[in-house]
Amino acid sequence: MGSQSPLVEKKSYLKDTTAFTISELDQIREQFPILGRLTASGAPLAFLDNAASTQRPLAVIDAMSDCFRRYYANVHRGIHTLSEESTAAYEQARRTVAEFINAASDREVIFTAGATASINTVARTWGDANLGRGDVILATIAEHHANIVPWHQLAERTGCKVVFLPITSEYTFDDTVVKDHLARLQPKLFAFTAVSNVLGTKTPVRRWAQLAKSFGAVTLVDASQATPHEPIDVQSLDTDFLVFGGHKMCGPTGIGVLHGKQQLLEDMPAFLGGGGMILRVTTEGFEPAELPDKFEAGTPPIAEAIGLAAAANFLTGLGLERIAAHEHALCKIADQGLREMQGVEVIGPDASQKGGIVSFSIDGVHAHDIAQELDHLGIAVRAGHHCTMPLHRWMKKTSTTRASFYLYNRPQEAERFLEAIELVKTKFTRSGRRRRQRNPQ
Ligand SMILES: Cc1ncc(COP(=O)(O)O)c(C=O)c1O
Repeated sequence: MGSQSPLVEKKSYLKDTTAFTISELDQIREQFPILGRLTASGAPLAFLDNAASTQRPLAVIDAMSDCFRRYYANVHRGIHTLSEESTAAYEQARRTVAEFINAASDREVIFTAGATASINTVARTWGDANLGRGDVILATIAEHHANIVPWHQLAERTGCKVVFLPITSEYTFDDTVVKDHLARLQPKLFAFTAVSNVLGTKTPVRRWAQLAKSFGAVTLVDASQATPHEPIDVQSLDTDFLVFGGHKMCGPTGIGVLHGKQQLLEDMPAFLGGGGMILRVTTEGFEPAELPDKFEAGTPPIAEAIGLAAAANFLTGLGLERIAAHEHALCKIADQGLREMQGVEVIGPDASQKGGIVSFSIDGVHAHDIAQELDHLGIAVRAGHHCTMPLHRWMKKTSTTRASFYLYNRPQEAERFLEAIELVKTKFTRSGRRRRQRNPQ
């Protein structure tokens, strides 16, 4: 877009992005070949749909390709070279991920198919074994469906109930309300997101985990939108369960992590039954394997685990604090720019209280139209309910548009996004005016 843009003066925001230098960012972007492509309209791609899924660096692509090219075989079973090498790489991946989140032991790291699968595992095993009629699960109204539906299903099976914690009109949480809910309802489980995938709001994970503990509740933290963007230390956070997926942190799809405290996982019955998760099977029954195998029935996602470990190493190499600072600076550009525009509503707290997510709506323009117009300009964003229907209902909205930043986005892309929003606004304001002139009421 040309230098005549009304947003030219906002270039001053660029100096905030000091986490990566321009040449570092160039080098980072070189690791992501996909970022160099054009979109269908021929525009250069600005990928701002990272909260849905991120792109993969060469380190991840190469690690998986190397596995398939050189040593892939099924793990844990074969007594041959390839199987032993695959097994060693798969178990090394577990140690890498355990280190990445500072788990007390790699036995606490269960590989699953994703965050959704991790939460369902907890619901089906810990939930079925520990909850009954009248018991309460407390969740926030801002949860992704992945952290709501498994609890509704558990409620259907056991007669427990799910209670939702409200959010303030500033899109944040009030600690006194949290405390009040914990004290009054005495929930068995407090399930909450570390970062809302719509509002970007961060929750005080450590403080809430401590609070929950003091009221005897087990915590499950959905860290899908946190683990890719900030350092996570499960020992310091003191969470009981913490889950995340690989594809939002530069890793592959089809792999996720369920972290649980060892004692909790040991006390839980197995979930999926089959090969790999047993110590012994007889015609009368079975004896489950030790952790972590107990929860990894069937052939696991082998190359995906290796890819996830490569992603974790890639993020560690860049430094998660720097990644967080970089995204925060980009989020601030977009957030402040949108707030200065007439007819635009930012859905979420101000940038100081959130990760790299900015959701918004434009008066009189449907979220899907915004996303489509942005796509014509090469900018990928997401529109819809973002798998948070209860939150959207609470906000009295059917849909919102979301821009989400990641380590490889340039500050110029945040500005390009703002310029594009001005164009969308102008286009729809003009067409609205023409419509009103043609059909005066
Ligand atoms: C907050 C949150 N939780 C859970 C999920 C589901 O994650 P997965 O795709 O790893 O199952 C998402 C994905 O959009 C998310 O944003």
